[in-house]
Amino acid sequence: MKKDEVFKNYDQYIMGTYTRLPLIFVKGKGSKLIDIDGKEYLDFFPGWGVNNLGHCHPKVISAVRDQVDKLIFIPNNLYHINQAKLAKEINFWSFDSKVFFCNSGAEANEAAFKLSRIYGQGKRFEIISFYNSFHGRTFGALSATGQEKYKKGFEPLLPGFKFVDFNNLSAVENACSPNTIGIILELVQGEGGVNVAKNEFVQGLRKLCDEKNILLIVDEVQTGMGRTGEMFCFKHYGIIPDIMTLAKSLGGGLPIGAMVTSRRIADTLKPGMHASTFGGSPLICKAALATFRAIQKEKLLTNTKKMGEYLKNNLMKLKEKYSSIKQVRGIGLMWGVELEIPGKPIVEFCLSKGLLINCTQDKVLRLMPALNIDEKKVNKAIKILDEALKS
Ligand SMILES: Cc1ncc(COP(=O)(O)O)c(C=O)c1O
Repeated sequence: MKKDEVFKNYDQYIMGTYTRLPLIFVKGKGSKLIDIDGKEYLDFFPGWGVNNLGHCHPKVISAVRDQVDKLIFIPNNLYHINQAKLAKEINFWSFDSKVFFCNSGAEANEAAFKLSRIYGQGKRFEIISFYNSFHGRTFGALSATGQEKYKKGFEPLLPGFKFVDFNNLSAVENACSPNTIGIILELVQGEGGVNVAKNEFVQGLRKLCDEKNILLIVDEVQTGMGRTGEMFCFKHYGIIPDIMTLAKSLGGGLPIGAMVTSRRIADTLKPGMHASTFGGSPLICKAALATFRAIQKEKLLTNTKKMGEYLKNNLMKLKEKYSSIKQVRGIGLMWGVELEIPGKPIVEFCLSKGLLINCTQDKVLRLMPALNIDEKKVNKAIKILDEALKS
């Protein structure tokens, strides 16, 4: 199919729910993407946080190849070795937990809300969430999202969600009521502008939840699987959540979501109370197992910390050079560059020079390169960003 025909078919047959860049990619390897014209791009925002291993990682490819011949799908009223192995692997890297498998971040958060409500026994049902948060597009997840722009026109949403300022513990304390059953947060708000939760805040939330028997839900859909330099971001804070939700990079590029719950509350959901047909299929679980293996074998957590520091230092140098940069913030390989000017032209300039980055909240450039990035690629990206800011 020729380029024009692809665009035409999209116009004619695909719903217009996305604002798309006029790019057609045909191949990817690591941090490299090749478009339909053969132009090469350096991907510093691979798959919106899906491709933490970069594109087409060899371990994921061979895991999928191996499994696809044996068994692709088996329903959840039966057992499979890969699902058993993956739940154990998640447990090993997170906390003493049981897992519910599904297909996306929104679905994992929906499961977390349902579990919370059941745990509240019909008496406690309220969930506290934060302004600038993002938890997905389904009705429950959207109701928990602290940004009006995503909700407009879809009201009435699910009742029982309250919003307070991020990093403001006393606001959370004041919002707690006898009906409160859960607090949900991203430890680094991604879509909301790369806002990092403070240590005291998260530790304070944990203490508050313990005192009031409230469930602490961390949405690690974007921060999970090594993105911040730990396998899961909560590890930076010395706390253990009651529920952690995962998706995006868990499957190495294939769709999977998971709700990970502490053993204490896991059995609150009884057989028949919740389900997901495709959740945790043998094929996807095999890809997810390969993702864990790659992160471990290739020492990607160490690389993320090292390259994260390197990227940060280079971004700070740009900040010193350009007054148009207001703030540089982030952790690991999840960085936001807040500008005094709109970010869209910068993204477009970078694109014209073969660098893919993202802009969120109109003025925050988002850089989330693959965890196996090296200095050479960071230098290349910084050089293009420098040119973009100069122009
Ligand atoms: C923190 C967070 N939670 C949930 C979601 C929703 O995930 P999905 O698009 O897989 O439903 C996203 C997606 O960007 C996210 O960043």
